[in-house]
Amino acid sequence: MSLTSKSPIGLFDSGVGGLTVAHAVNKLLPDEKLIYFGDTAHLPYGDKSLAAIQAYSVKITDVLLQAGCKVILIACNTASAAAFELVREYAGSRARVFNVIDPVVDYAREHFAQKRIGLIATKQTIASQTYQRKVEALGEGIDLRAMATPLLVPMIEEGFLHNKISRQIIDTYLSEEMLQGIEAIILGCTHYPLIKKEISEYYQGNVAVLDSSEIVARALRGYLEYNNLLAQPTQPPAHRFMVSDYTDNFEHSTKLFFGTEVQLEKYKLWE
Ligand code: DGL
Repeated sequence: MSLTSKSPIGLFDSGVGGLTVAHAVNKLLPDEKLIYFGDTAHLPYGDKSLAAIQAYSVKITDVLLQAGCKVILIACNTASAAAFELVREYAGSRARVFNVIDPVVDYAREHFAQKRIGLIATKQTIASQTYQRKVEALGEGIDLRAMATPLLVPMIEEGFLHNKISRQIIDTYLSEEMLQGIEAIILGCTHYPLIKKEISEYYQGNVAVLDSSEIVARALRGYLEYNNLLAQPTQPPAHRFMVSDYTDNFEHSTKLFFGTEVQLEKYKLWE
């Protein structure tokens, strides 16, 4: 299948988190048709082994390539950390692969050289040391304080937001000793923009809260422009949303993000 500007953009995550990225892409590039895959059958990725996340990621990439996607955007930090190179190799010349980590690390280099910044993410993302290695490789003297915050994804997937308990969980994590004195914090999980407001409130505007979704959407636009792959304005694109298991929360969140009725397509990754 030859790639053209009309080809869709494929995105995937373990669940609703990547919708924050899909939403930012849709806002910046409203003519692009998106195909989103939420791997709800295997959620959360943050507690899975490297091998399991790599297997899921390649399998989903295959589904998105079969659908003719010109770009595969790994809209999940855990999968970006565990499987980016593998997915890129698998896609080869069939599609350009983006992850959600590199554009944020670039942004940190431009704006926070010689500063102390925090990173919160899943256990698997922190244990992979991907951010730590990439920030170190910049050689810009950034003091990165990386901390796993495993309770946040299940809390968000349950829609448990903006209440007393969610605030207490967030406060408990952010008041940890290792995150003190930071000037910015990277939301190193695509679920976390859903609690960005609570995190910003905790810091009362004194710490920059870096949300990868808009930064990644801008990097994607740059690539499409440069390569003449931007979709032309025609009819509003009909996005597709695929899930490996049906959940009420996924449907609810998708409607909230895209403001329309969505038809979820159930796709079993393995028989
Ligand atoms: N949203 C994902 C991330 O960015 C993964 C969350 C999970 O499934 O644990 O890491």
